[in-house]
Amino acid sequence: MPQPKTSDALGECRSVAVTCISEVGWHDTDRVLADIRAAGGSSENQWQKTWDADNAAGSASLVEMVMMDGQIRRILVDCGWNEAYMLQRFAETGVKESLERGEIDLLFLSHEHFDHLWGLQAVLRLCPDITICVPATFSDDALAFILGDRRSPTSSPDAPVIRHTGRLLTTAMGVPTPLYPGCIAVAFNLPILLGVTGEQSLYFRLHDRGTVCVTGCCHQTVTALADYAVANIATEETLYGLYGGLHIAPFGPLTAPQEQMITDMARFGFHKIAPNHCTGPSAIAKMIELGYPIESGSNRPSDTVLGNGARVVFE
Ligand SMILES: [Fe+2]
Ligand SMILES: [Fe+2]
Repeated sequence: MPQPKTSDALGECRSVAVTCISEVGWHDTDRVLADIRAAGGSSENQWQKTWDADNAAGSASLVEMVMMDGQIRRILVDCGWNEAYMLQRFAETGVKESLERGEIDLLFLSHEHFDHLWGLQAVLRLCPDITICVPATFSDDALAFILGDRRSPTSSPDAPVIRHTGRLLTTAMGVPTPLYPGCIAVAFNLPILLGVTGEQSLYFRLHDRGTVCVTGCCHQTVTALADYAVANIATEETLYGLYGGLHIAPFGPLTAPQEQMITDMARFGFHKIAPNHCTGPSAIAKMIELGYPIESGSNRPSDTVLGNGARVVFE
């Protein structure tokens, strides 16, 4: 007899819309790679490195979920890197007003990489008491940064630090953590680049549609993300949607294992895929070649990613 999945208790929601506030981690990849090389390579701790602050941009997305009773929950996924750049992007996407009015229910920090976390002061400037959710693997440096007890390596040394006054939630590793009915966080425990450990992702269970996965960088790999959903979240054998950075060949051509992973994605049967950020052009080209249902809309040179200001709706 088939075992009941934990998903039975996770509830459902009606729809999910994701607005790309910014998927541009930095302006010049050669400069960020030079910064990493200069400080000893990608295994060195990001908090101990010197970074070119002028090169910083940042990754952040706004999730708006409509619950079964019609209420809306808004989740800010990550908060970018450069504070001035993020304030501008928040203003250009309407997120500034939402933060000021206290309409964002949660800041969900996928992982502590510089381009997803170090723009936090831009959020706290607009809403210091926002509830923040982090994976349990966040480092002491990252937690001290959230609390306002330390600056990032690219923070201005003179700017006043705004302290976080809201709740700080921690997601345990490897178990579905319900956030709202039909919205679940799962943290994956793995070492990733620059001394960072762990990344968490969001899963939404859409009534009559299926499961939508939302990622920051997806360092755990897209197949690990989707396999987890099939085993623990979804009631269907296939998945409905996918949004976010997939960390596949962000800087160059596909390797053979990366190409195989993209081919392997077919078994999840996604109806709508909106990749951006660290999903490299070669990876997106391969997905298009395989006929995957890619959502685009962009102001980037390539129009094959869901770029800054673009929105995808799963309903
Ligand atoms: Fe990233
Ligand atoms: Fe990352």
